Amino acid sequence: MDLLIRNGMLVTTSETFVADIGVEKGKIVSITREINDQKAEMEIDATGKYVLPGALDVHTHLQMPFGGTISSDGYFSGTRAALCGGTTTVFDFILQNFDEPMLDAFKRRNALCEPEAACDYAFHIAVKDIHGSLLDTMEDAVKAGIPTFKVFMVYDFGVTDGTFYQVLKKAQDIGARISVHAENNDMVNFLVKKYLSEGKTSAYDHYLSRPEFVEAEADHRAIQWAKSLNAPLYIVHLACKEGVEEVTKARAEGYEIYAETCPQYLAFTNEVYKGPNGRAFVCSPPIKGKESQEALWDAIRRGTIDTIATDHCPFNSFEKDWGKDDFSKIPNGCAGIENMYPYMLNAANVGKISFNKAVELCASNPAKLFGCKQKGSLAVGKDADIVLYDPKKAVTITNEEMHSDCDHTIWEGIPLTGYPVATYLRGQLVYQDGKFLGKKGMGHFISRSLQ
Ligand code: URP
Ligand code: ZN
Ligand code: ZN
Repeated sequence: MDLLIRNGMLVTTSETFVADIGVEKGKIVSITREINDQKAEMEIDATGKYVLPGALDVHTHLQMPFGGTISSDGYFSGTRAALCGGTTTVFDFILQNFDEPMLDAFKRRNALCEPEAACDYAFHIAVKDIHGSLLDTMEDAVKAGIPTFKVFMVYDFGVTDGTFYQVLKKAQDIGARISVHAENNDMVNFLVKKYLSEGKTSAYDHYLSRPEFVEAEADHRAIQWAKSLNAPLYIVHLACKEGVEEVTKARAEGYEIYAETCPQYLAFTNEVYKGPNGRAFVCSPPIKGKESQEALWDAIRRGTIDTIATDHCPFNSFEKDWGKDDFSKIPNGCAGIENMYPYMLNAANVGKISFNKAVELCASNPAKLFGCKQKGSLAVGKDADIVLYDPKKAVTITNEEMHSDCDHTIWEGIPLTGYPVATYLRGQLVYQDGKFLGKKGMGHFISRSLQ
């Protein structure tokens, strides 16, 4: 055996128990609750630590051209940061170019990612153009192991309702699934113009230009299209109370509607936009009011939220400053790839949710929902993506100690009780006690299927 982690508190979605976990050739080969006399090349005593599956972050934007620039974490720095926060697989979004077949989009981005990725990775393709035979090329991507696509209802590359509907239908026909960024584009454009013309230019006005109803209406509309086809739909970065209500209702009616939220919507409220650092928090959808924050936590406990993901899309301070006098010039997005699992595990450690729930939201559900059969839980035969978590280690987040290339973080100064102290990727130690120990290019592309 290559690795034996002894006496840790193993966490699954339903159980927490002391056991030894054995690893060989990158896979979990044994989980033993009794005292055992197995021997391994490397033995670790995990007494007092939780032993968890590595998290899967199913929503990242690494080196993405967006907002007049490129997001500041590349495929290496982003995946390095992921591993240092206990995330062992990331799903990055490829933005299809106009006129580009889906497989070409995959090849274009994989050529950049493959030599750089330190953790395992998968892709979703954000569809922009379906004219001619482009819609049919979705099937080639499915065959290449990319069965998940996304549409944006906003931004200059957002799709019309007609395109969204056709993409939903095509996905249904070929065993794929669509995710959606839901906000009402017309309302956003109108409100942005209105506020700017009134001299309302601050980060808080970014929130006012995309308030709760702007997101909720689009959630409703997106769900309507999915319902009309009886097609599954996954709503990314759900951030408002009314949206939670839409999802709850559709699910109660028996529709296959899934929802993701992000740590920034759970940790902060729109008050952050009033502070001197408001620009750093500008993302879309914006962080909403207290009622929405509470509704999201409630939805997590009720099981209406399926996954937590980061929407990691950081920009450096000088880029955020482009919007000092005009919020519409602030590149949208924040860092979070290294903070998701520590934040959710802290929530478990202080009793807000259980450790089992944290594992379900950050590892098991993302793996199941997105067809990563070898990942997301501690079980014999799965990849040995393992995190050791010390529930007593107190950490106050500072950007200096993070492993991203961005020069700031919205998580600065946030205190956490408990922190990951080691991450194993397919059995290899890639992070320990604050230090990255992995290598550029060691991440594998994860080919997936939803069947
Ligand atoms: O503000 C955000 N979320 N930036 C990344 C792109 C997106 O909308 O997901
Ligand atoms: Zn989005
Ligand atoms: Zn996003």
